[in-house]
This record gives sequence, C-alpha cells and structure tokens, in this order.
Amino acid sequence: KRLKHLIHTLPKAELHLHIEGSLEPQLMWDLAQKHNIALPFANVEAIQSAYQFENLQNFLDLYYQGADVLRDEDDFFALMWAYLCKCYEQNIVHTEIMFDPQTHTQRGIDYAVFMPGFARAIQKAKAEFGMSVYLILSFLRHLSELSALEALADARPYYSMITAVGLDSSELGNPPSKFTHVFAQAKELGFKLVAHAGEEGPPEYVWEALELLRVDRIDHGVRSIEDSSLMAYLKEQQIPLTVCPLSNLKLRVVNEMSQHNIIQLLDDGLLVTVNSDDPSYFGGYLDDNFHALAHHLSLSEQALAQLVCNSFTASFLPESQKQHWL
Ligand code: HPA
Ligand code: ZN
Repeated sequence: KRLKHLIHTLPKAELHLHIEGSLEPQLMWDLAQKHNIALPFANVEAIQSAYQFENLQNFLDLYYQGADVLRDEDDFFALMWAYLCKCYEQNIVHTEIMFDPQTHTQRGIDYAVFMPGFARAIQKAKAEFGMSVYLILSFLRHLSELSALEALADARPYYSMITAVGLDSSELGNPPSKFTHVFAQAKELGFKLVAHAGEEGPPEYVWEALELLRVDRIDHGVRSIEDSSLMAYLKEQQIPLTVCPLSNLKLRVVNEMSQHNIIQLLDDGLLVTVNSDDPSYFGGYLDDNFHALAHHLSLSEQALAQLVCNSFTASFLPESQKQHWL
C-alpha cells in the first residue's frame, strides 16, 4: 500500500519510451476510421487481444503495422499528447522519448509532418504541466547504415528539437558495428548517443555499442549479466541501463517476472532505471512496471528510491536540473 503510494507520488523520469509504442488500440482504431484504412481487426478489443508475442520480431511486425494509421500532423500531435498526459498522471516530470523517423519516411510521411505534430504536443505539455521533454531520433537497425545516414541528414531542420540518437528494431543479426559511421557523425553533431543492446542480443553487442558507437546509455542491456567483465565495466563507468520489465516479460526475454534480474543488477551496483518501452503493447505504463516489480520481486522502499534517483542521474538533463530532483 505505502509502496504503491510512493510509486505514484515520487517525481520520476522515463528514459526508454518509443512514442509509436504508446499508440493505444482506441486511437489506432479512430485514426483508421478517420483515414479510411482497413485494419485486420474487427474492433478495438480484437486489437488488444492480438498483443501476445513470442519474441521481439513478432512484436515489431504488429508495431510497424499499427504505426501505419499515423498519417497527418494532427495524428502525431494526438499520439504525443496522449503519452504526455499519461506522464502527468503518473508524476513523470521528465521524459526522453524515442521516435522512429524511418517508420514514417519509408511510407511517404516526412519530418515536416511528424515533427510539427510532436512539437505542438510538447509545447502544450511544457506550458500546462511544466514537464521537460527530450527527443531521441532512433535508427531502425534492420535497415542499412546508408538509410540511417539519410534519416540523420533529413532531420537537419529539426536538430534543435533533438537531444540524442538511438538504435532500435530487430537486434539479432544487426549488431551495433553496422552503424559506426552514422553514430560517429551524430556525435560530431553534438548529439547524445544511446542504443538498444543486450535485449535479445548477446553481451558482445553491448560491448560494441560502448566501444564502437561510444554510447552514453544502453537500452535494455539485461543480458550483460552473462559477462562478468562487462558487468564490472558497467559498474565502474556507471553506464546507465534503461531496463523495461513488462517489455522483457511480454517479449519472453524472461519467462517470469519473478526471474527478472533488475534487482540483482541494482544490487551489483549498476546504474539501472525502470521504463515502459512500448506501454500500449506491453500491458502498462511506468507505474505498472514498478507495480510488477513490487509484486513479483519484493521491491524495497530503498530500491524504489534508488531506481527513481537513477532515472534522473541517467537522464540527459543538465547537472543543475538533475540536482533539483535528487
Ligand atoms: N526493442 C527493439 N526495438 C524496439 C523496441 C524494443 O524493445 N520497441 C520498439 N522498437
Ligand atoms: Zn525499446
């Protein structure tokens, strides 16, 4: 009870959230109606019940299909606004949001459509809720590095809206080493760097993200536990891991929440944070992820406080603003 109250009331930051993964079935349905798009579902409930996954790829297929209903600026505004309202309800005071430009540009929707939609929602949330919002441009790793270079170049008019670049989509077979040039270029441009690694992929991919891409944070990274020298490095350097418990359960990275290693990673001294990843698809927002840990992993108040502090420490906020929340 007291823990649940704390989970809700503590000011929190969220650092691993794909905006396309916050598209709720109801909004997907409404936008399909609006644009006369035929969905392969009979109703909203049928969309919801299709969300049973065997692995990452299985989820990604539905996730990219779902994103196809996003067509005009108002759609991207509605998507972003809905998530920022969820943040406000959960006392998330700072969020760093990933978006996948190639998911949209590949189907003929360009930056000039989605960026103004995002910008409008972010301005409104800043004004009405006083929250801070950063954007992370994420490259799709199943596409070529050339495509990622184009995505970075095409974002040029919007660089001032973007804090970091990231790497997501199908991990196995698409190692970080495939993207060394585009990450070097992004670093040169002054962006912070993150990459998904060690979700389904091996610890070697985490090493590559650190040593070849020079990332500031690892998204997921839960498989790092298989490599003791990597664990020592992550601890010593205090490299943040943005862990997503419900995502790991839904995508069968773990079989049971009670077997999740997040508390062990925390106890080993790593800078781990809790995040929701794709809340609409994985059965819950940030609060629900903390509740799952409280239920299945006997989360202590101290561990909760540490995880919440870590969310600010691991953020890209300037030092003075981090201190304000710590
Ligand atoms: N992993 C990889 N790619 C993704 C994810 C994820 O958890 N969510 C959205 N794109
Ligand atoms: Zn993710």
